[in-house]
Amino acid sequence: MFASLVLLTLLPAVFGQSWQQYLAGLVQTLNTDGLTTLASASAALNNSNNGQQLAQSLSTGNWTLFAPNNQAFSSSPVNLTSNATSVLDLLSYHVVSGNFTDQTSPYPNITLGRTLLNDSSLVWLEGNESQVLAWSNGSDGLFVLNNGTTVPVVNKTTYQNIQVLVINSVLQIPQNLSDTLANSTYDVTSVAGGLSSINIPTTNSTLLDVLNNAHGITIFAPNNTAIASANCISGLLPNNTALIALFGNHIINGTTVYSPGFTNGNNYTSASGEPFAFKTNSSGVYVSSAGSNWARIMRSDVLTSNGVVHVIDSVLLDTKVNVSAAVSAYQSATSVAASTTIETGPVGVTPTTFAGH
Ligand SMILES: *[C@@H]1O[C@H](CO)[C@@H](O)[C@H](O)[C@H]1NC(C)=O
Ligand SMILES: *[C@@H]1O[C@H](CO)[C@@H](O)[C@H](O)[C@H]1NC(C)=O
Ligand SMILES: *[C@@H]1O[C@H](CO)[C@@H](O)[C@H](O)[C@H]1NC(C)=O
Ligand SMILES: *[C@@H]1O[C@H](CO)[C@@H](O)[C@H](O)[C@H]1NC(C)=O
Ligand SMILES: *[C@@H]1O[C@H](CO)[C@@H](O)[C@H](O)[C@H]1NC(C)=O
Ligand SMILES: *[C@@H]1O[C@H](CO)[C@@H](O)[C@H](O)[C@H]1NC(C)=O
Ligand SMILES: *[C@@H]1O[C@H](CO)[C@@H](O)[C@H](O)[C@H]1NC(C)=O
Ligand SMILES: *[C@@H]1O[C@H](CO)[C@@H](O)[C@H](O)[C@H]1NC(C)=O
Ligand SMILES: *[C@@H]1O[C@H](CO)[C@@H](O)[C@H](O)[C@H]1NC(C)=O
Ligand SMILES: *[C@@H]1O[C@H](CO)[C@@H](O)[C@H](O)[C@H]1NC(C)=O
Ligand SMILES: *[C@@H]1O[C@H](CO)[C@@H](O)[C@H](O)[C@H]1NC(C)=O
Ligand SMILES: *[C@@H]1O[C@H](CO)[C@@H](O)[C@H](O)[C@H]1NC(C)=O
Repeated sequence: MFASLVLLTLLPAVFGQSWQQYLAGLVQTLNTDGLTTLASASAALNNSNNGQQLAQSLSTGNWTLFAPNNQAFSSSPVNLTSNATSVLDLLSYHVVSGNFTDQTSPYPNITLGRTLLNDSSLVWLEGNESQVLAWSNGSDGLFVLNNGTTVPVVNKTTYQNIQVLVINSVLQIPQNLSDTLANSTYDVTSVAGGLSSINIPTTNSTLLDVLNNAHGITIFAPNNTAIASANCISGLLPNNTALIALFGNHIINGTTVYSPGFTNGNNYTSASGEPFAFKTNSSGVYVSSAGSNWARIMRSDVLTSNGVVHVIDSVLLDTKVNVSAAVSAYQSATSVAASTTIETGPVGVTPTTFAGH
């Protein structure tokens, strides 16, 4: 007992030396590659406990660093000297666990990796998982999907166990769900309006409030044209129960399912208790709810602080409800989330969720 206490007090000093050397080497590599702004932000990791922990994490395992160049920082509103916590959060979001050199699928497939961003004021995924980053491999090389835009990888280098992918924008940490839906970039503002006008009985909250507060949520959001042309919605309008059922069939409750999960081997159950199905053909990937019409997924993997939104081109015409299936899917999602381990490779490729079984 006494011996192990002595060891515990000695260990940090020993680790300290090695990770400090490691960090100094990283800073030097970044400087050599002209990434001087990122280099000084990285050097500043030494100045806080959380920063030191980040440097220590990097020093073992395999990592991919999406490294904004100087031009990226100079055109970003981020002030790297103002708030140490938010700078650390931002840097954490640019670091992905794993080496994806041979593990990035060609576009239109999207690869997602788990970042180091886990600040609970910015991330509310199921099982307290860290936020993800999404990218792909296009005809002109790798690019990150961020904030409705594509950010190309402009250069590459390595430092020990880190694959450094240089980008010319600072990536934006995913926003909360209601801000994301309300953002015209994604063409789903009608869904934001719809969800905020649906009241949940016996509570004083709207469906949007419920979704905003969820830990792990997947939403198939019909785009504005789709909502405008769905006759069924005006038909249901006075009937709150039917609207909750309809929108519930666009939602997976308690599980964040990214596009690699859109395969028929995965059985996902909607928040209304209906089974989702997926199909892929030459024109794209499609989703349906319990044999409803097929909706095409127009834009996948719009990340939010608590889950993901996939924009679809039509409303899923299904107002059926199966309460017990919904409850058991949520319970199963909760227990899966509690036992999830941190991915060091592509997220969502091997099914880890069996909601609905
Ligand atoms: C890092 O990746 C190499 C292959 O590139 C692998 O052999 C090794 O086990 C990985 N290390 C960790 C800690 O995942
Ligand atoms: C960044 O923040 C620091 C500290 O709050 C402040 O002194 C500096 O003027 C800010 N820089 C810019 C460009 O706003
Ligand atoms: C710094 O940023 C964090 C996270 O963004 C925020 O919670 C905190 O209030 C900020 N601190 C100051 C002093 O502005
Ligand atoms: C691309 O995604 C589709 C649909 O999810 C899947 O069927 C296919 O296997 C994926 N291809 C690769 C190379 O990962
Ligand atoms: C995000 O996208 C919006 C709309 O395209 C744009 O106005 C905004 O500047 C972008 N924000 C960042 C941080 O890139
Ligand atoms: C790309 O990175 C290499 C070092 O890895 C550097 O020598 C070169 O100048 C960089 N190119 C550009 C365009 O930044
Ligand atoms: C990443 O993996 C590739 C191929 O497996 C390997 O060549 C490269 O050295 C690895 N990079 C790092 C930084 O470990
Ligand atoms: C859209 O998102 C971007 C970045 O996330 C933000 O700068 C912009 O203000 C948002 N627009 C609205 C209307 O919220
Ligand atoms: C319901 O919410 C409204 C608006 O936030 C508030 O004014 C009202 O007092 C709340 N009612 C109850 C019963 O909580
Ligand atoms: C509202 O919709 C529910 C579910 O679709 C249905 O059972 C109920 O009869 C409807 N109520 C009215 C007043 O139409
Ligand atoms: C998700 O399930 C929980 C627990 O059953 C429930 O409280 C919540 O309202 C559900 N959310 C949705 C959107 O159905
Ligand atoms: C929105 O959906 C309509 C069909 O309802 C489709 O024609 C259109 O291309 C979609 N818009 C975008 C931006 O994907």
